[in-house]
Amino acid sequence: MAKPDMLSGQWQAVYEGLCERPPRLNPKWFYDARGSALFDAITRQPEYYPTRAEEEILASQGDSIARWIGPDAQVAELGAGNGEKAVMLLRHLERPRSYVPTDISSASLEAAVHRIRQAYAGLTVEAVAADFFDGLPWPETLSEEGRCLVFFGSTIGNMEPAEAENWLRRLRRSLKPGEHFLIGVDLKKDPAILNRAYNDAAGITARFNLNALVHLNRVLGAGFHPERWHHQAGYNAERGRVEMYLVATEPERIRVGEHEISFRPGDRIHTENSYKYTIEEFHQMSRRAGYRIDAVWTDPRKWFSLHGISVE
Ligand code: AVJ
Repeated sequence: MAKPDMLSGQWQAVYEGLCERPPRLNPKWFYDARGSALFDAITRQPEYYPTRAEEEILASQGDSIARWIGPDAQVAELGAGNGEKAVMLLRHLERPRSYVPTDISSASLEAAVHRIRQAYAGLTVEAVAADFFDGLPWPETLSEEGRCLVFFGSTIGNMEPAEAENWLRRLRRSLKPGEHFLIGVDLKKDPAILNRAYNDAAGITARFNLNALVHLNRVLGAGFHPERWHHQAGYNAERGRVEMYLVATEPERIRVGEHEISFRPGDRIHTENSYKYTIEEFHQMSRRAGYRIDAVWTDPRKWFSLHGISVE
């Protein structure tokens, strides 16, 4: 464990979140090395359709997406994960010049760099370990021509809609005219499909959710007993989002810095929202944030969408 004074900022944020009603944790706590591996496993579960649907779009409509991006592109990926989708995109691009993966988990970043360097010997690959909520990842060494930002996986769904719109607007201000932004957005659909996707039979999503506690124990010495908590996930139609919670099944007492927090059986920690949009809702949000809508690609069932938006 690192020194308490080095962690006081993080402690403060965790403490404040856990003191809210309902208590909440930032979804970024899912993602240490184990959490990233569990997320990879989620994407292979039969119930979790978003990754397969997005990959289906990249495979079947990659040419159309590549024409929109244009030749000699410099691709920066926000939240690159293991880089699998980037490979699927780069495959279709004409003479891509560089690839800049960014991720908060340096473990998955290394995997992405390794994967891409193997697939594309001539490509400049420069990894940036960063939280993309903090701003754009362009390295200083990159020239400004043909830059394209990609943000796969519908991770934007983790933000509140107002927050997402502000974030898009902020990114918009640091993009130059002619620059492209390719963004994946999970679509509204039958709640039964959504509920299944976040409650896979193998229990991987449950382990992923509980891993936030394991991660907090390691980094902050919080003293959670993960076996005293269980996974809960469901679609809230009114708010258009899948909500994930950890529910206490026994009394629990944890530490955050010098504070102690107690939980009673039935208390819930809200760990994630995964907002779903209609194509029209997302387009309206993008327009309000100052983008031009160039194109939208979907899978045949219209479960997932990739949007080509840009700056005029
Ligand atoms: C990585 C945020 C897109 O919301 O579907 C998967 C994370 N949570 N299963 C999502 C997640 C539970 C995922 N995102």
